[in-house]
Amino acid sequence: MTKVTKICCIGAGYVGGPTMAMIAKKCPHIKVTVVDLNEQRIAAWNDPDVENIPVYEPGLSGVVAEARGRNLFFSTDVEGAINEAQMIFISVNTPTKTYGAGKGQAADLKWIELCARQIARVAKDNKIIVEKSTLPVRTASAIKDILTHTGNGSQFQILSNPEFLAEGTAVEDLDAPDRVLIGGDSTPEGQAAIQALVDIYANWIPKDRILTTNVWSSELSKLTANAFLAQRVSSINSLTELCEKTEADINEVARAIGTDSRIGPKFLKASVGFGGSCFQKDILNLVYIARSYGLHEVADYWEQVIIMNDHQKKRFANQMIRELYNTVNGKKITFLGWAFKKDTNDTRESAAIYVADHLLHEQANIMIYDPKVLEGQIYFDLDYLGTRTPQENKDGVKVINDPYEACSGAHAIAVLTEWDEFKDYDWQKIYDSMLKPAKIFDGRNLLNANKLRAIGFQVQSIGTKV
Ligand code: UDX
Ligand code: UDX
Repeated sequence: MTKVTKICCIGAGYVGGPTMAMIAKKCPHIKVTVVDLNEQRIAAWNDPDVENIPVYEPGLSGVVAEARGRNLFFSTDVEGAINEAQMIFISVNTPTKTYGAGKGQAADLKWIELCARQIARVAKDNKIIVEKSTLPVRTASAIKDILTHTGNGSQFQILSNPEFLAEGTAVEDLDAPDRVLIGGDSTPEGQAAIQALVDIYANWIPKDRILTTNVWSSELSKLTANAFLAQRVSSINSLTELCEKTEADINEVARAIGTDSRIGPKFLKASVGFGGSCFQKDILNLVYIARSYGLHEVADYWEQVIIMNDHQKKRFANQMIRELYNTVNGKKITFLGWAFKKDTNDTRESAAIYVADHLLHEQANIMIYDPKVLEGQIYFDLDYLGTRTPQENKDGVKVINDPYEACSGAHAIAVLTEWDEFKDYDWQKIYDSMLKPAKIFDGRNLLNANKLRAIGFQVQSIGTKV
């Protein structure tokens, strides 16, 4: 297997962009070209001002500034980049199907298949194909099938190299990952391909953190990791309701169990519900695969993680309505935060979208402030639900760029994202500008409830009795 000097990555999204930027930074001897069908996205990655790149991640602009134009390139010339690379990463999106068989559960592999066909058409020599997108188990065999049957005799090795970075901490996760996982064939060619990818990561990652395995174990490990993480959030969230009915405090419970080294302290933060592009999609995928093998108990078990998460989002919205005297009709409600977590401008599956949808059903007027999410994205997210017309969404929702202005005259504030800056606001000033009783629903247990109560706010946190 030839030494890798040129890499191509198809898909310049939240995963492809940061991952390739880090490889380029750490491997100046490798030319990394990230391609995407979306011209606007590529133009944004090439914006002379690195602060304007399309993905907001702390530290990412600096990484791009260092490598871009040196050995990191963003381009729409997909075929040219495929042609020259020895290694091709596939990092396109694999959304949940919105039509046909498996609708609402299975992953839509349309883009993956198109990529495979394009590679098969263009490749003139042997290539290593690396699956970065999260895929249902055994997708690699489908890719291989396409490559070997429609190609022109070139040899392809397929590797699975799932991404474990979390948004908001992508740069640190890529710089010092807990582990890198690479799955490949046990044949000599497969092992050589694995080694080629190990050699790339070994430029900055200790060898003992680079795990190798077979393709299927690697693919299933990614789904399993996300399912376990999401399960922890749903598990802690499932107890918030019980805490609210009793004298127990979920933060105390999380602290108490988190000190057990077998359980560990991470991912025990109660919230309005998990979001993001991966958790729900990957679990639905797992459920779909299990069901397709007739494993109904297994499918039901994991499906419950999603059911609990949906319940948590709905419960939060219903609690707001109840506390606002059973009607929010015409009331001004301010959302602080729209992103699915702090330090990202990504809003996919954000709990805020579903809480807003529920409140709009009840005819609320919603004001939204988020430090990084743009107005157009917020309307896009609501329009995408298809619950009401774009005009109705525009009428019911206003996006405001100043948090104080957004809160002024509001009946209630809901904290939907745990942005640090919310903690430092002048809450007395906000209180003075609101209608009374001024209510706060803290969907992230972010704010200091006692201090707010001392100012005069009525505060409802997640998992504590009022
Ligand atoms: C993607 C997958 O969705 C996820 O399953 C996986 O775990 C990581 O990679 P992400 O990078 O967040 O996640 O997706 P997104 O930000 O939507 O980026 C995908 C990009 O691929 C888009 O910019 C899209 O334009 C591009 N694309 C899609 C192509 O260039 N070609 C295609 O055929 C399809
Ligand atoms: C996740 C995985 O962590 C990552 O390894 C994988 O590559 C992609 O999916 P991401 O979705 O970017 O990453 O963010 P993550 O930090 O996992 O948070 C997911 C959601 O869970 C967010 O909405 C977050 O707010 C929520 N969450 C997380 C909680 O509500 N409580 C917690 O304790 C942790």
